[in-house]
Amino acid sequence: MPNSNELLNTYLKKILQARVYEVAEKTRLDYASTLSRRLANHIWIKREDMQPVFSFKLRGAYNKMSSLPKEVRAKGVIAASAGNHAQGVALSATKLGIPALIVMPKTTPEIKVTAVRNRGAEVLLHGSTYDDASTRAKQLVEQRNLTYVSPYDDVEVIAGQGTIGMEILQQHTEEKLDAIFVPVGGGGLIAGVAAYVKYVCPDIKIIGVEPEDAPTLYAARQAQRRVILDQVGIFADGVAVRQIGKLTFEVARHYVDDVLLVNTDEICAAINDIFDDTRTIMEPAGALALAGLKQYIRRTGCQGRQLATIASGANMNFDRLGYVTERSEIGKQGEALMAVTIPERPGSFRQFCHVIGQHVITEFNYRYEEEREAHVFVGVRLTGGFAEKELLIAKLRDRRYSVVDLTENEMAKTHIRHLVGGRAKGIFNERLYRFEFPERPGALLLFLTGMGQRWNISLFHYRNHGSAYGRVLVGIQVPAEQLIEFQIFLDKLGYAYWEESENLAYQLFLQ
Ligand SMILES: Cc1ncc(COP(=O)(O)O)c(C=O)c1O
Repeated sequence: MPNSNELLNTYLKKILQARVYEVAEKTRLDYASTLSRRLANHIWIKREDMQPVFSFKLRGAYNKMSSLPKEVRAKGVIAASAGNHAQGVALSATKLGIPALIVMPKTTPEIKVTAVRNRGAEVLLHGSTYDDASTRAKQLVEQRNLTYVSPYDDVEVIAGQGTIGMEILQQHTEEKLDAIFVPVGGGGLIAGVAAYVKYVCPDIKIIGVEPEDAPTLYAARQAQRRVILDQVGIFADGVAVRQIGKLTFEVARHYVDDVLLVNTDEICAAINDIFDDTRTIMEPAGALALAGLKQYIRRTGCQGRQLATIASGANMNFDRLGYVTERSEIGKQGEALMAVTIPERPGSFRQFCHVIGQHVITEFNYRYEEEREAHVFVGVRLTGGFAEKELLIAKLRDRRYSVVDLTENEMAKTHIRHLVGGRAKGIFNERLYRFEFPERPGALLLFLTGMGQRWNISLFHYRNHGSAYGRVLVGIQVPAEQLIEFQIFLDKLGYAYWEESENLAYQLFLQ
């Protein structure tokens, strides 16, 4: 391994020589005036959503493909991807006249498959995850004598992405930048940006941002080695990678100052923020870095700083927008969700609303239960952030209402709010699980078939949040003596899942 100075030298030269502008735009670095005012810092957005394929990925792909010798090009290239990399490779292939085969998981939304085909690439649908597609692509490299174009773990790809760092430094002409926030998946983007920026201006901080449920670089930094995550969340599909790249980690371990983790609500709020300033809708991975930037300001309390963020892509599925708007309110600390226990008698709802006072109620779910008390699921609009929520909860408790704060309770936000009133009597040995599985036609049926008929399903709630993934809440009756067997069955199913049997929202509304 070269020492770290040599490493920077190598990448700097590669970035300066990178061929990207034959196909990529030098995108704008926009000043986000609304957000800057609101957060009392100077916030700059690098608009990679404005590339011809609506993401930065064509920079690396084109640089790699244009570096291939003529005879290698003629044989063709192959890549595995479910989205942005595929489009980058396909466009570059057309420009360079190289035949391209893209292996995509069968779960890829039709719109993305069509976009890749329209750019002239051949598409092979294989398997149901990115890993399946990637394994198949690597087999085909041998069989068909093709060149593999990695989405991130390649010096030329990293150098292509590094041109974004170079542009940011050229375009930011105010006082010196304090930090650049970069979304991280396999790490190609952050490695390229860090290599350039740390060579030219070492005191500008490079801060990686990852979803809490896909912390590839974060986990590798903690363990001081690359780790393979058992499962990753797929909401921000552009960065849903199980392991940081080898070459990218070599750079990131030395030149990334910090890595921040953000949740889905924070990402949705950041999509909303970018929309407010630019009237453009980013995909989740595209707004990820801004979510981290906002968290950084909240944590450090910094003011008047020059902060840049990379809006890395805008390939958003339209049918996911409903989910994003629903979650962005909480991400902006604009809504609180609570379970409140009120007396089961006439007039108690009115009395409760009286205590809520001027707050707008965004949601109120309740069903009679033949008991002395009723649990209501309440959403309340906040204008003063979570501090206001704490005050409201204190006020309610003061009036002897029992309150459980559900604002950060993933299961309650996704499922319970749509299920309130469904308490069942005489159900024994029920356990509750939340699942995520890749969405495609027939996916729910496949899921149900996978569940088999061994145990009784006592509760089922499914919401389709757009074509990327499905989320299911399932109650299953499993006697204690069959728990081990059931656990083995769950692990074999292969879906991401969380046990929710101890979740307070379950106990209050469904059990
Ligand atoms: C929109 C978007 N943002 C960020 C990333 C992460 O890039 P990298 O894998 O180089 O870390 C990707 C990767 O495909 C992406 O599509």
